[in-house]
Amino acid sequence: MKPLIKDFLHSDSAIDSISVQGWVRTRRDSKEFSFIELNDGSCLANIQIIVDASLDGYEQIKNITTGSAVSINGNLVESPGKGQRWEIQATSIELIGGAPDDFPLQKKRHSDEYLRTIAHLRPRTNKYGAIFRIRSKLSHEVHQFFQQRGFNWIHTPIITGADCEGAGELFRVTTLDPAKVPLENGKVDYQQDFFGKEAMLTVSGQLSVESFCQSLGNVYTFGPTFRAENSNTSRHASEFWMIEPEMAFADLEDNMNLGEEMIRELVKFTIDECADDLSLFAKFVDKTLMQTLENIVNNEFVRLPYTEAIDILQSAKSSFEFEPKWGNDLQTEHERYLTEKHFKRPVIVFDYPKDIKAFYMRLNDDNKTVAAMDVLVPSVGEIIGGSQREERFDFLQKRIKQMNFNEEDYWWYLELRKYGTAPHAGFGLGFERLLMLLTGVSNIRDVIPFPRTPKHLEF
Ligand code: 4AD
Ligand code: MG
Repeated sequence: MKPLIKDFLHSDSAIDSISVQGWVRTRRDSKEFSFIELNDGSCLANIQIIVDASLDGYEQIKNITTGSAVSINGNLVESPGKGQRWEIQATSIELIGGAPDDFPLQKKRHSDEYLRTIAHLRPRTNKYGAIFRIRSKLSHEVHQFFQQRGFNWIHTPIITGADCEGAGELFRVTTLDPAKVPLENGKVDYQQDFFGKEAMLTVSGQLSVESFCQSLGNVYTFGPTFRAENSNTSRHASEFWMIEPEMAFADLEDNMNLGEEMIRELVKFTIDECADDLSLFAKFVDKTLMQTLENIVNNEFVRLPYTEAIDILQSAKSSFEFEPKWGNDLQTEHERYLTEKHFKRPVIVFDYPKDIKAFYMRLNDDNKTVAAMDVLVPSVGEIIGGSQREERFDFLQKRIKQMNFNEEDYWWYLELRKYGTAPHAGFGLGFERLLMLLTGVSNIRDVIPFPRTPKHLEF
């Protein structure tokens, strides 16, 4: 592999006859030299290129504008200037692709909103370059985390016939012509559709991965999921990535332990292995970022039954837009109160009322609550949602009936409870929400390469 700018910047010694390719961030000319700040995406820092005015073809330098792609040969030499140890003394410079002066990233700072409109160019800025390098490293680390612990990665399907969460927030997959939908007694005749039945984009790989949990043991999925919920918030995307472990012979406590360990390990990894990129966020995006992250690494998460959470919220001095009430879901303002004001650290709320949670969660002995858990973190709110699953055939069948689901659709899910059923538990961690926590970036649209949200599908 050809060395990259990050390798040259960490070099132990000067090197003759090197070459680099990248994009010009800035160019400054003096009488005798031009200085080019070059970035190739390998790290946050640029390398400085010195182009001597006596170099052959120097008169072309005016075409080497901000945004241009260039290829440079030269020598890596110790930099006499401040701020960098190494620079490149160019021996030849070739313009590969010029950038006219309407290149949108001329000035240093642009608003996040504006940069979203140019999602094809925003990774050329320091901040977005850093986000997407962290995103890449972290994806790899997620796999490391599970593989080291003996979990198998299962590729669950993207096209599905089941609504996992039962919330009906699904995108349809069809090859029917919307102008000529075949009808049968006033209803769409899906038998004529591609799969001969209704098909959707998955909202979660959980139900599918449960079958593998009941055969391979500890498993996980990590892939894109889709939700057609019309919530235009800074924490919801229509397409996002989810990590979903599922453990066999495990209960809610094992689940909480895994969720807590996973978040702590991934935070530690980011602090240790993404230090350069992270420093940008600590400096420019959220001044309290390192404190928040150290706090997560160094403190145990609070574990709080839902009923106690409601008590705390009801006696809170803060005034909430939504009154906290037993039986209602926690709102973001409640979640943030618990983590940011009351406990000042991550909180795992568990044993939620059964009526606000999904059908597959295990019913507790009180008959009112289920073995559910949400992990809440400062500034983001809910980052993990999970549960111990209902492994008892009769209980699950009864719940499916109560919810008015079509039992036939769940025949295979019920069979898992008929043949060798075993207690199991798992959760879903929103990968973008994790990135928001790690970088302090407050809008989910800014941690995913090409955001999809209601009324926004730019590229
Ligand atoms: O709480 P959720 O809906 O749980 C499930 O889907 C379960 N089937 C997971 C499981 O037990 N295997 O979603 C899990 C997490 C949330 O806590 C949140 O972090 C993220 O997924 N999430 C979203 N992230 C971005 N945009 C959205 N629209 C999201 N919806 C959920
Ligand atoms: Mg949830």
